[in-house]
Amino acid sequence: MKLVLASKNEKKLAEMNDILSHLGIEVCSEAEAGVDLEVEETGTTFEENSLLKARAVMEASGLPAIADDSGLCVDCLNGAPGVYSARYGGGELSDEERYRLLLNNMRGQMTRAAKFVSVITCCFPNGDVLSARGECPGTIAYAPMGEGGFGYDPVFFVPELKKTFAQLAPDEKNAISHRGKALEAFKEKLEEYLNGM
Ligand code: IMP
Repeated sequence: MKLVLASKNEKKLAEMNDILSHLGIEVCSEAEAGVDLEVEETGTTFEENSLLKARAVMEASGLPAIADDSGLCVDCLNGAPGVYSARYGGGELSDEERYRLLLNNMRGQMTRAAKFVSVITCCFPNGDVLSARGECPGTIAYAPMGEGGFGYDPVFFVPELKKTFAQLAPDEKNAISHRGKALEAFKEKLEEYLNGM
């Protein structure tokens, strides 16, 4: 089965294929499906934005479409940047400028608990919708560490592993990440759904 990923993020595409290929599912890019959409994320929850993106790409491509809406929620910032993670500090900032802004906004904070959240939604052309959520708890480091991953990975520290997400190999990150957990939950729902067809 082929799903179109409602995102232009190549790293997300790779992470999804790593996890879903075991189910015989191929996730292709919007470009491969001949779609080029900028879906406005007008929702205030990960669930709403995930649905908005998946539905728009399913309608434009005529194929089942999968979206991940994800972000970083920091306790001492009342859950910010949350659904605004990709736009935190403005759309024009680089990933590095964005996580440095986060570190600045947390200067002097000793309580550094945070979590990554991912909500995966898949919309089918017949109107069916499957959705799953995953969370990964951690803390925000005092300085960036590691070169891997993307986004806030260099400052997201996993205490059990004593490493940031950016210091983990892709397999290690997928095994514990918010997206890995959401995709595992999604995989189970999809298997049930496909068996019931
Ligand atoms: P989305 O594409 O609207 O879901 O934006 C999610 C944003 O949250 C990304 O642009 C990143 O800034 C951040 N984010 C989500 N997942 C991750 C991750 O696994 N590592 C680092 N940052 C992430």
